[in-house]
This record gives sequence, structure tokens and C-alpha cells, in this order.
Amino acid sequence: MNLLDKIVSLAKRRGFVYPGSEIYGGLANTYDYGPLGIELLKNIEDLWWKRFILRRSDVYGIGTSILMNRKVWEASGHVESFVDPLVECLSCHKRFREDHLENKAKCPECKGRLTSPKMFQGMFKTHVGATEDKGSEVFLRPETAQGMFVNFKNVLDSIHPKLPFGIAQIGKGFRNEITLGNFVFRTLEFDMMEIEYFVEEKDWEDTFEYWKEEMWQWLLDLGVSPLRLSWREHSAKERAHYSKRTEDIEYEFPFGRSELYGLAYRGDYDLKNHSEKSGIDLRYTTEDGKSFYPHVVEPTFGANRTFLVLLLEAYYEDKDRVVLKLNPRVAPYKVAVFPLLANKEELLGKARAIYENLLPSLPSVFDDRGNIGKRYFSQDEIGTPWCVTVDFQTLKDDTVTVRDRDTKKQERVGVESLEKYFLDKLI
Ligand code: GAP
Repeated sequence: MNLLDKIVSLAKRRGFVYPGSEIYGGLANTYDYGPLGIELLKNIEDLWWKRFILRRSDVYGIGTSILMNRKVWEASGHVESFVDPLVECLSCHKRFREDHLENKAKCPECKGRLTSPKMFQGMFKTHVGATEDKGSEVFLRPETAQGMFVNFKNVLDSIHPKLPFGIAQIGKGFRNEITLGNFVFRTLEFDMMEIEYFVEEKDWEDTFEYWKEEMWQWLLDLGVSPLRLSWREHSAKERAHYSKRTEDIEYEFPFGRSELYGLAYRGDYDLKNHSEKSGIDLRYTTEDGKSFYPHVVEPTFGANRTFLVLLLEAYYEDKDRVVLKLNPRVAPYKVAVFPLLANKEELLGKARAIYENLLPSLPSVFDDRGNIGKRYFSQDEIGTPWCVTVDFQTLKDDTVTVRDRDTKKQERVGVESLEKYFLDKLI
């Protein structure tokens, strides 16, 4: 089994990710997050929000609608340009993006003949209201960025930020992807964490370099090996319609080196177009009365791809033991609490009390099934960094054993200092 298959199997078995709509045979390219998966994903998003919004004075978080006025997507260029050339194999009927094929004449799977390309709109359409005509047609957003641009003036008028500053959000994006996708790497809906960073034109290059370092360091701090990361600049042909320069951070996935995050210089493309099309002045005015469209550097982070990378990085086999060596800050549970023996009332009661004391400040889990060895195995497999065992010594001196997931070392810690002991490790 290759690494991705092992991750997919563990993810399903242990409650991280399930195939979407599974009891009805599934829906290709959709996945549901289980109790552990959603914690891991939320932890990634919370860390991102803290790091890039709450702990900075120059980036403002917002939350905008998935459905927007159709004119937004006309002005942004997506109606015209967010289209891909679709080809279909006349023999096996598989579909491909023509621009992704080396040999544009033959099917890469069965060597059958391909149809000529047909332009395919990447945005999902739906309708608002009872009638399904052109006037009621709206799109599910393919990027959260436009929510930031159309609210640029609202943020200026209500918060009065000074350049340079950023507007950021985390939210769902939707794309009617042609190519199928390698687990949660490419899905029809996904979580994006995006920052639109507004600067004066003269500062864009320095800002671009600054965000390159920030994006890279974020990954290193999550524990991703720099050996599997690299930057790649887009060619002019490959760049999105709004971009003047784009670089991707790529990761060495089991299916090949592919985009993890993108960093784009969007110039004044978006603000200028929205200004012209809406008739609302979206220029920024300095204290000395100079008005201009700020330029935008956009660091964009896919949350689900981060999730996948962290699972790939964490997966480790130690003889018959599988360990997810997740950074404790993203691990779904920080602590597991066990009574040494499940049939001893004193141990059980004490273990439950310790678990309930930890719960308000630390995501924790209680387990009294099987023996201690099996419980360690079970927690290792879901990445719980610390296991606490309540034994007979606990009843005498109010200490417990704390076992570390990665080193397997155990130490005795006083029950009254347990919460602080873990919180200190999570700083
Ligand atoms: N606003 C810029 C933008 O949308 P993008 O590179 O098209 O840029 C941003 O998308 C990020 O979203 C990507 O770097 C990737 O992490 C993630 N992403 C894009 N398409 C995806 C998909 N179909 N499934 C999962 N994640 C996706």
C-alpha cells in the first residue's frame, strides 16, 4: 500500500475523513470530515487565524457570503476567464483538462481518441428565488478573495486602516473541477485561508518577498519538512487572469510535486475593475489627499491541502505500531486519560475526575477499553501527544504517569499541576 492509501484508510477507520454521501455510493471529489478530522482542520484554521490576524495589527479578518451578486464575477473576470478546456476520451469517456495533457491527441489512460476541447465554466451555478432564468443565476464563489475586494470600502470606512494593511478570511470555495483528485487534494468544495494585502505600487516586490518568507515559516512551524517543499514561479501562460506574478509553494506529494499554496501579485486589477463596474470609488486616500488604487499581494493557503500534508508528514510506522506524529497544537486530542484497570472503581472514578478537570482547557479523551498497551496504540494512531494513566500509586500520592507519544518515555506528574504541565507544552 502506498502512503496515500494508508492515510486514506486510517482517515476513514479512525474518524478523520469519510467519502461524501457514502451510503448512496458517494459523490466523486467530495469528502466529509469526521469527529477527529474536523478538529484537526479547525486547529489548522484557528492557528492560521491567530497567527495572521489576531497577533498582527495590520490584518483584519472578515467573513463574507458564498453567494454574491453575479456582477461581482463579471467584474472580477471569472465569468469570462475561469474556464478550462475540457476534452473527453471517445473510448473510455474519461475527461481531462487539455492544458494538463502532454499528448493532446490521445487519452493518457487508454490511448483512445480525444474530442476537441470545449470550454468549461469552473464556477458552480445556482438560482436565487423561484425562477430559473438568467436573471436569477448566481455562482458559488470559486475564491473568497472577491468578498475582500467588494468590502474594501466598508472596511476603510468602518475601521480606517492605514496602508499597508490586509483583509483576510477563511471560508469555502467551490470549483467544478474536471480532473479527479487524490483524496482531499482536489475537491469540489474546500476551505481557503486568504489574505489580500494592500500596498502602494512601489512596495509590491518587497511585500511579495515578505509574504514568501511568512508562508514558508508557517509550514516549518507546523512541522513540515523543508526537504519536501519548494517554490515554483508560474509562466505567463499559466498565470490566472488577474495575476502579474504568481509563485506556488509545492509539496512532494506521493502522487508527485504539486501546488500546496499560492502567492499572487494581483496589481490593482480587482479594485480598479470593481470601481469601474460598480461606479463606487474604491480608491484609497492618503492623509495628504492623494487618491489611488492600492496594489494587492495575495497569499492564499488551502486548508484541506494543509490537512493532507500534515497527515502525510506525521504518518510513521514503528514495527507494528502506527503513529501520527502531529504537532501537538494541531492534534485532535491533546491528552488521553486511562485508569490502569477498568474494573477498579477507585481508579475509574479518579481517572474520570482528572479527565473532566482537563476538558475545559484541553481537548481530551477518556478510554478504559482493553489493556494499557492497546490504548497507547490506539492513541498513537490518532496522534494524541500525551497519555495519562491513573494507577495505584495515584491513590497514595496524587501523581499520574504521563507517557509521551514520540519518545514513549513516561514521567510522574502531580495531579494538581497536570493542566499547567500540558498547557506549557502547547505554547
Ligand atoms: N484567490 C486565489 C486563488 O483562488 P488558487 O491557487 O486557485 O488561488 C488557492 O487557490 C488555494 O486553494 C490553492 O493553493 C490550494 O491550496 C487550494 N485549492 C485550490 N483548488 C482546490 C481544490 N479543488 N481542492 C482543494 N484545494 C484547492
